[in-house]
Amino acid sequence: MKKGLFITFEGADGCGKTTQMQLLAEYLEKKNIAFLLTREPGGKGLGEKVREILLNYKGPVSDRCESFLFLADRAQNIDIIVNPAVAEGKIVLCDRHIDSTVAYQGYGRGLDIERINMLNNIATNNKKPDLTFVFDIDVETSMKRVGKEKDRMESAGIEFHNRVRNGYLELAKQEPERIKVINAAKSIEEIHQEIIQIFETYGRLSQ
Ligand code: TYD
Repeated sequence: MKKGLFITFEGADGCGKTTQMQLLAEYLEKKNIAFLLTREPGGKGLGEKVREILLNYKGPVSDRCESFLFLADRAQNIDIIVNPAVAEGKIVLCDRHIDSTVAYQGYGRGLDIERINMLNNIATNNKKPDLTFVFDIDVETSMKRVGKEKDRMESAGIEFHNRVRNGYLELAKQEPERIKVINAAKSIEEIHQEIIQIFETYGRLSQ
């Protein structure tokens, strides 16, 4: 059986990563490669309930509580959805994962990054994505794409989102083998081709 892969899509709200994940899924479908889509927060079942709280709860939410909710959802996603599919040899595409918590709760909210790394390791049982795409875009453009209807995270302000962006770029510097930065200002088709190329190269290297 072919080796499964765990690929994550990361970046600012409105960076276009979800569209690119769908396009890669269509590409895999055409090639008859077994895959599975999931997302954080969310996935399915219990994960969707946690997502609802995280994005729509109107009362005060402490930064640590927010982190633990993302982490609880992550443990569920890894145990129930990601690991079983990778073990079956599937390509798992996940919209957001560990790097979101480092970028948003660490760089964005200012929580201690070492601690977040430790908590991420507990939530994932030390499993890391094989490959991660970070879609990089300037904050003004991404906020324009999000529009006026912002959820709790999207309403956090321009400085917060600039810190998140810089956090992602810092992570990519630290782990260049795993994390590939994509210029999200390019056209949808150009980005799709770039992703296929990276995916194919990675697939060849990892077989
Ligand atoms: P979502 O609607 O999925 O945004 P997008 O479509 O842009 O991915 O909302 C997820 C929000 O949660 C997004 O603002 C990023 C944030 N988030 C964190 O702050 N920490 C995390 O660990 C995760 C997974 C997401």
